[in-house]
Order: sequence, then C-alpha cells, then structure tokens
Amino acid sequence: MPEATDGSRVYDLVAASPPLDQNSMYANLLQCSHFAGTSAVAESDNRLLGSLSAYLIPGREDTLFVWQVAVHEDARGMGMASRMIDHILSRPLCSGVRFIETTITRDNGASRKLFASIARRRKCEIAETEFFTKERHFDGRHDSEFLFRIGPFA
Ligand SMILES: CC(C)(COP(=O)(O)OP(=O)(O)OC[C@H]1O[C@@H](n2cnc3c(N)ncnc32)[C@H](O)[C@@H]1OP(=O)(O)O)[C@@H](O)C(=O)NCCC(=O)NCCS
Repeated sequence: MPEATDGSRVYDLVAASPPLDQNSMYANLLQCSHFAGTSAVAESDNRLLGSLSAYLIPGREDTLFVWQVAVHEDARGMGMASRMIDHILSRPLCSGVRFIETTITRDNGASRKLFASIARRRKCEIAETEFFTKERHFDGRHDSEFLFRIGPFA
C-alpha cells in the first residue's frame, strides 16, 4: 500500500512511462494517501518499480476504477502490473468489488493486453465503449479514451 511519501516517486515513474499523462505531484500525493487503500506500489532495493492508482467509484463501490498503471521499463513483462491489481483486489476493502473499469486510448496496445489478460484470468467479458471523446471532452487536444468494463467476477 502506498504512503504519502511515495507521491513524488510515483510522479517520477509516471513521467518515465509514456504514453501516460503526467498529473500534478499533488494529485499523486492524494493517490498515495486518500486512495492508498485501493492503490499499490512495488519496490526493490528502495527503487520504486511499479505504481497502480485506483479508487472505488463513488456510489458504485462494486467497481474499482483503475486510474493509472506504470511499471518501470526494467521490470516490465514479469507480471508486476497483474500482481498489483490482484493484490489490491485481495484486500478486505475490495471484498465487494465485482467489476474493474479503466479507460484506454486506441493506440495503447500494452494497456489493452494487460486488461484483456485480467479479464481472461477472471473468466470475464470486456465491454468497451467510448467514454471521453477527443472532440466533445478533450476539445481536440487528446485522443479519445475508451471505457473497458470487466466483470462481474467473484
Ligand atoms: C502496461 C504496463 C503497465 C504493463 O506492465 P507489466 O508489469 O509489464 O504487465 P504484466 O507483466 O503484468 O503483463 C500482463 C499481460 O499484459 C501483456 N503485456 C504487457 N505489456 C505488453 C506489451 N508491451 N505488449 C504485449 N503484451 C503486453 C502480458 O503479456 C500479459 O499478458 P498474459 O497474461 O497473456 O501473458 C507497462 O508496460 C507500462 O508501464 N507501460 C507504460 C505506461 C502505460 O501504458 N500504462 C497503462 C495505461 S494506465
């Protein structure tokens, strides 16, 4: 579980993990404090190698919304992102979670594979719908984000 003092390291890891959008360091501090119960960090030899920020959607606490996942390039392809999500879902706070949601741009193949793998392991379908669109929500300044909804799972 992250601590507030991890916020600046999460900020640096996200900066080194394109195509993720950089948030303010303040937002990362909130992820590592208010949302620590539904977020995770992974480290080795005091190096932060992984970060996953997520929260239970207000009013829909059966759904974990994954905000950002970043794994340092030295640690990719070893199951770290999958283990962070499994770890969060195993916590008592998430015992009522039946769905995972996230948004992904069309061109983020690694993220699509990650969430397809999570759905496959949990033997669930993925429903994909357009969520935040380039023109309507981003004023043409960001590619559309597609909502992936995985579940229900036990
Ligand atoms: C996406 C990312 C978090 C994956 O982390 P990871 O720890 O390497 O992922 P895992 O090892 O847990 O892999 C999970 C699944 O996704 C697949 N996968 C992960 N990265 C992949 C890639 N670049 N190409 C193809 N498949 C990939 C794995 O093969 C695995 O599938 P499997 O279970 O069928 O074998 C990491 O590549 C990253 O930080 N990328 C930059 C930031 C980003 O795009 N974040 C996601 C958006 S929120």
